[in-house]
Amino acid sequence: MAEPSRNRDLDDAIASLRRFLRSRWEERDDVLFRTTAPLPVVPPAVARPGLRTPAPPQGVLRAAAPIPRPAYPAPALRTAMPLPRPMTARPGGGRPAVERHESGILNPNGSDRGKALLELYGRIKGCESCGLCKGRQHFVFGTGHSDARIVFVGEAPGEQEDKQGLPFVGAAGRLLNELLAGIGVSRDDVFICNVIKCRPPGNRKPELPEIEACELHLYEQLRIIAPRILVALGTFAAQSLLQTAQPIGRLRGRWLRWKDSDLLATYHPSAGLRAGSFKKVIEEDFQLLEKRLAKEKAGPA
Ligand code: URA
Repeated sequence: MAEPSRNRDLDDAIASLRRFLRSRWEERDDVLFRTTAPLPVVPPAVARPGLRTPAPPQGVLRAAAPIPRPAYPAPALRTAMPLPRPMTARPGGGRPAVERHESGILNPNGSDRGKALLELYGRIKGCESCGLCKGRQHFVFGTGHSDARIVFVGEAPGEQEDKQGLPFVGAAGRLLNELLAGIGVSRDDVFICNVIKCRPPGNRKPELPEIEACELHLYEQLRIIAPRILVALGTFAAQSLLQTAQPIGRLRGRWLRWKDSDLLATYHPSAGLRAGSFKKVIEEDFQLLEKRLAKEKAGPA
């Protein structure tokens, strides 16, 4: 819905179609969403950013309850996309030349995940599901490696991101690059995107209909990439992904779960730009990530 229709019946029909699609997606409908095995039903949302739903009592947070490791993505997808993932760094130094597609995806034809992301980009880049499409210069899909083990999720593009069509390329992006470099991770080895793909005017907070329309794109990206680790940058990303109203101060600094991924939430880099104390806390959270990566590198004991 690019703009409110004058036809109430049409608005109602579109709203109920959207609710139906969302519920089928959440239940992993294998006809509508091409999964080959029934996947676990995600517990219903307890609260959503922007909604005045009361904060869930302690312990209700989805991540707090152990979620069994499901066959997610569907087994067919897994066999088609075997792990371990190729990273851009190669033994012996030197990086192979990687192609950066206009979408931001690196080497999109290099793997099945890359091709699937590219196909998704082609399908959604002209999205007109909410009014944000009217003011955008670019649909900011996301950037990085399609086979990344780590996906970083921010809030929404700002001015620079809208201009360049890439996420986190302004001041907050420079701090993110610095934080990544601090733990020895290259921006090109991870995937970086936002919950919202088009810039809200004047960088205002995204509104609920915009979130509802856009997070389906994010879920689809995450289904394809199937990262082991998700890093939620800031309140908005953490609350959107975890569907909670809990403050970021309570969510950050520990490993949580999001579907089949481990999730680490931290403050948004722009908070780190505003205050050194926040930057310090973000650095502490990135150290958790560094430790986790070092452990993975060492392999099972
Ligand atoms: N802030 C975000 O959340 N995302 C960006 O891409 C840039 C700034």
